[in-house]
Amino acid sequence: MRQSRKLDHLKYSLALADGPGTNGFADFSLVHNCLPGLAWADVTLTTAVAGLPLSHPVIINAITGGAADVSGINAQLAELAKLTGAAMAVGSQYAALENPAVCESYRIVRTVNPHGLLFANLGAHATPDQAVRAVAMIGADALQIHLNAAQELAMSEGDRDFSGYLENIAAIAAACPVPVIAKEVGAGIAREQAAALVRAGVRAIDTGGAGGTNFVAIEAARSAAELPPDTISWGIPAAVSAVEVASVLPPAVDLIVAGGIRTPLEAVKALALGGRAVAVAAPAVRLLRGKSLTEAVAWFEAFLAEMRRYMLLVGARRVSDLPSVPLVITGNSKEWLNQRGIDTARFARAGR
Ligand SMILES: Cc1cc2nc3c(=O)[nH]c(=O)nc-3n(C[C@H](O)[C@H](O)[C@H](O)COP(=O)(O)O)c2cc1C
Repeated sequence: MRQSRKLDHLKYSLALADGPGTNGFADFSLVHNCLPGLAWADVTLTTAVAGLPLSHPVIINAITGGAADVSGINAQLAELAKLTGAAMAVGSQYAALENPAVCESYRIVRTVNPHGLLFANLGAHATPDQAVRAVAMIGADALQIHLNAAQELAMSEGDRDFSGYLENIAAIAAACPVPVIAKEVGAGIAREQAAALVRAGVRAIDTGGAGGTNFVAIEAARSAAELPPDTISWGIPAAVSAVEVASVLPPAVDLIVAGGIRTPLEAVKALALGGRAVAVAAPAVRLLRGKSLTEAVAWFEAFLAEMRRYMLLVGARRVSDLPSVPLVITGNSKEWLNQRGIDTARFARAGR
């Protein structure tokens, strides 16, 4: 069952469009700087997440593992990560903890990319011992703990009990030899839960907001179920979730913005909201389906070059300069954030 689900997720992530809700980034505008005072060569994309140095801020997010049939895809993703210097997460390793026969579908990622930055991945119900084993399985540099209540409820075979997760994440963070990253998978994280996750000891939060891959829609398609539009479009838009989470993060906990990041401009806006990195999943799947590895690497490099273009055009030399550049927030996102007690006018001022 679990193995065919992995294949279904890949199939439907290719077949279904993003959304239907938007990621919200259209409400966010960076302000052009006609005197950037920088040369192209001055702009650098290096950054860091949870104390781990990244050569650039685009992470390949958790996608797959757990079935022999997906080993090839994981090998291709690992090759893409190696050639582009991207950090990469594997999909949920629960399958391999239950059935060691499928460990290799995850380990292949470390074999292909022995020196790359790799994130392990488990659900929030995992035990601390399982977390330690998942990290050891692939020699991971960090561990992602995914939160996916909306997806589970949309699955007939999904979990129905989400109690005790926060305490469990605290126990995992205390036992884990590498930093723990909490992540949503497409419904977003609000500021209250972000603050609780910080108290639980996570070192980074991946917002996984709505507007990109939609696991409720994917699960509905898998089971040929007709879900009401309200259920399908549930979640916090990615850009709004990024601001909510950033509003409560202390300096020692990093923001990763994810969920429907599709363009270099959206990625730079995400970093201007305080993200130390962005993470993408479906685009990596689509890239490897539609293009050769060489073409995929070229696409990725062009994406990074476009990010540098926008950084130069707002006068940001480094990723860490972006949260000081002016950014205007309008529309539904402004109303939402103001209602939630966040001063959006502050973002529009240089220096902030
Ligand atoms: C085919 C596929 C499988 C995924 N499997 C996992 C998973 O096992 N664990 C996890 O934490 N997230 C998983 N995700 C979610 C992504 O890591 C990411 O949070 C989500 O897709 C939003 O990013 P995107 O809009 O760029 O795709 C998966 C995504 C895709 C497309």
